[in-house]
Formats: sequence, structure tokens, C-alpha cells
Amino acid sequence: MALHILLHISIFLLMCTAKAIDSEAEALLRWRSTLIGAKSVSSWSMANSTCSWSGVTCDAAGHVTRLKLPYAGLSGTLDAFYSEAFRNLISINLGNNNLVGNIPANISLLHTLTFLNLRSNNLVGAIPYQLSHLTSIVGLNLGNNHLTIPEYAKFTPMPNLKFLFLYHNDLNGTFPQYILNCTYSLPEIVPRLRYLDLSANGFSGSIPRSLSRLQKLEVLYLEGNNLTGGIPEELGKITVLE
Ligand SMILES: *[C@@H]1O[C@H](CO)[C@@H](O)[C@H](O)[C@H]1NC(C)=O
Ligand SMILES: *[C@@H]1O[C@H](CO)[C@@H](O)[C@H](O)[C@H]1NC(C)=O
Ligand SMILES: *[C@@H]1O[C@H](CO)[C@@H](O)[C@H](O)[C@H]1NC(C)=O
Ligand SMILES: *[C@@H]1O[C@H](CO)[C@@H](O)[C@H](O)[C@H]1NC(C)=O
Ligand SMILES: *[C@@H]1O[C@H](CO)[C@@H](O)[C@H](O)[C@H]1NC(C)=O
Repeated sequence: MALHILLHISIFLLMCTAKAIDSEAEALLRWRSTLIGAKSVSSWSMANSTCSWSGVTCDAAGHVTRLKLPYAGLSGTLDAFYSEAFRNLISINLGNNNLVGNIPANISLLHTLTFLNLRSNNLVGAIPYQLSHLTSIVGLNLGNNHLTIPEYAKFTPMPNLKFLFLYHNDLNGTFPQYILNCTYSLPEIVPRLRYLDLSANGFSGSIPRSLSRLQKLEVLYLEGNNLTGGIPEELGKITVLE
């Protein structure tokens, strides 16, 4: 009897696992169906394990952990991308494609993400402040799109952020103070930010002295803006390209 129940439970658990894996596949296929001319992912098929699909990497349990499809000729939006099925996704690289439209706020529900690279697409609209809810994020590259300034006041701390690339967008206004305030969780913790690229935007006004808070900064790109004033001396050891 006990064995019987146990067997039932195991079968149930197995079915659950299988279902979760299936729906990751379904989610990817659903997104692909919204893309145009997605030749690089045309071999994605339910006939094969998701883990063997081009650009897809899985963990030992068969869950999708990485999606790596740069220069893949993908045209379309990210609207149908998000799915609850992605519970183990740690890295997305969809750089150098032709993704258009907004960055959907629901990408921020992918709490396991540590790297998000959407550089060199044709994304428009404000950077969703919800991206700051990705508290595990280490690297965020939104460079070379047509993005505009987010609602800074709604940003929450991104304590693990080390690499932030926002170059070549339509960001304007004064220096984004939130970068200094939101890359650490408590005032006494030094922000982890090491690499900051804000070049080729429309930022204006003076470079804040509080930039010196970014004590771990190694590389800073600010050229191609209308920013005035110098880099705080406290940041003397960094490579500044202005
Ligand atoms: C996918 O599965 C089909 C049918 O089982 C097989 O013919 C094909 O070689 C597989 N493709 C890949 C990329 O594994
Ligand atoms: C994610 O957001 C996009 C854009 O707002 C929306 O079209 C889509 O339905 C959302 N997906 C889910 C699963 O809620
Ligand atoms: C920033 O750019 C937007 C358009 O993207 C414009 O409406 C706004 O006036 C600009 N703000 C400043 C301070 O230049
Ligand atoms: C950043 O923090 C400083 C003090 O720590 C505060 O005066 C300032 O208003 C904050 N700015 C933003 C944009 O959160
Ligand atoms: C800098 O300001 C000048 C004059 O206000 C303007 O013509 C120019 O387009 C601005 N450059 C950038 C990169 O925003």
C-alpha cells in the first residue's frame, strides 16, 4: 500500500518535471512563432529535446538556463518572450538582431537572470524600471537601441550589478543619479559597478561629484554626451574614455 502511494507520488513528480520542461519548449516555440524569418531557430522542434536546440543550454535536470542567439537574424518583438516556465534562465543574449518594440516589463519576472544582453537591436521606449527588480543581475547590456530614460524614482536597488551598458540610445536629461544610488542595497556597501558605458546619448549638465561612490569602477565611458565638468579625483585609478 505504502509502496503503491509512493509510486503514485513519484509518477506524479515525474509528470510535473516533464511538464515543466515541455512548457519551456512550448514557450520558446510560441515566441519563435511571432518572429519573422527566424532561420537560425527553424530547427527548433518538439521532436527533439529542447536542450539540443540551437542557442539553448540546459542544466543537468533539463531546464533551460541560457539562451544565446546573437547575430541570429531574429526579427520581431519580445512581447511573447516571457513565460512562467522559465524558472532557471540565468543568461539571455539576443544581441545584434532586429528586435523591435518595447522591452516588455515582464522580462523582469525572470528572477534568476544574471545576464541580459539586448544590445544592437531596434528597441524603443523607456527602459522599464521593473528591470531593476532583477536583483541577481550582474550584467545588463541595452546598448545601441533607441531607448529613452526610465522612471528613475521607481528603480529599486540592483546590488549585484557590475556591468552596465546603455551606450548609443536616446537617453537624455542630467546624469542618471539612480546609477549611483541603486547599484548597492545599503548605504555602507560599496557599489559593485565596474564597467559603466553611457556614451553616445543626450545626457547634459555636470558630472556629479558623487560619482566617486563607485569605488570599484574600472572603466567609464561618457563620451558623446553634453556632460560638463571633470571626473572626481577619488576615481583617479579608473580608465576614463570621454
Ligand atoms: C530532431 O529529431 C528528428 C526526428 O527525431 C531527427 O531526424 C533530427 O536529426 C533531430 N535534429 C537534431 C538537431 O537533433
Ligand atoms: C508580457 O508583456 C507583453 C507586453 O506587455 C504582453 O504582450 C505579454 O502578453 C506579456 N506576457 C505574459 C505572459 O503576461
Ligand atoms: C528627452 O527626450 C525626450 C524624447 O525622447 C523629449 O521629449 C524630452 O524633452 C527630452 N528631455 C530633455 C531634458 O532634453
Ligand atoms: C540618491 O541618494 C542621495 C543621498 O544618498 C539623495 O540625496 C538623492 O536624492 C538620491 N537620488 C536619487 C535619484 O535617488
Ligand atoms: C549638445 O548641446 C548642443 C547645444 O545645446 C546640441 O546642439 C547638441 O546636439 C548636443 N549634443 C548631444 C550629443 O546631445
